[in-house]
Amino acid sequence: PRRVRVHHLREAKERGERLTMLTAYDFPTARIFDEAGIDMLLVGDSIGNTMHGHDTTIPVTVDDLLPAVRAVSAATRRALVVADLPFGSYEASPEQAFATAVRMLKEGGAHAVKFEGGRRIAAQVRLLTDAGIPVVGHLGFTPQSENLLGGKRVQGRGDEAAERLSADAVALQEAGAVAVVLEMVPAPLAARVTEVLAIPTIGIGAGAACDGQVLVWLDMAGMGDWSPRFAQQFGQVGKALGDAARAYADEVRGGTFPDAGHSFLQ
Ligand code: KIV
Ligand code: NA
Repeated sequence: PRRVRVHHLREAKERGERLTMLTAYDFPTARIFDEAGIDMLLVGDSIGNTMHGHDTTIPVTVDDLLPAVRAVSAATRRALVVADLPFGSYEASPEQAFATAVRMLKEGGAHAVKFEGGRRIAAQVRLLTDAGIPVVGHLGFTPQSENLLGGKRVQGRGDEAAERLSADAVALQEAGAVAVVLEMVPAPLAARVTEVLAIPTIGIGAGAACDGQVLVWLDMAGMGDWSPRFAQQFGQVGKALGDAARAYADEVRGGTFPDAGHSFLQ
């Protein structure tokens, strides 16, 4: 399969073809999603919640993310691999963002990086883009700022907040971003931003008008015990895994596994 590249993102938008993105944090799931034809795999800092058992993404470090980025990159032949920059690894200066992004590409094998914010990190987007590193933006509810935002809340409600979000989106595009994630944004505002921008918008809890959609894979697949209102479960992977583990335990306890066919008889 031909690798998805950044110019395909804009072309998809121009043709009205919706883009698909899922998170991935390891080799086996990344391979499954890549073979399923998912266009972009995001090694998200949601790894803190989904894989490491934290309540937020705040504790996630570059060292937490790098092995996951490496595994996801190794598993994919077609998908564009996007690595999140974790909290504290890019905000201070364009130079800091550059140093972190270089690690994600050189050590992790990522094709692009994503980080949160609008005008406040536009200089970071500009420097990385000039250096040949594609950047995906992230606006709306930005989990790394949840302490300032007052929790997991819809962003961009009201004229003033909507104006701010639109201006941030335009600033990201002007700084060179190749796409923008819109998280927990009212659908009409996401539709307006999608219309204004030439680069694709990737929505999560941002309605159907975005140029693409992203979900945390555990929410998408019914893995785990909680999922946000905007996520739909397209499978029951958690139940399937539990059933398999129970069937295995039953057979071990009952003495029917392993049978002769699964043993070395001499
Ligand atoms: O870390 C993550 O999973 C994300 C997506 C929800 C966009 O940033
Ligand atoms: Na993230």
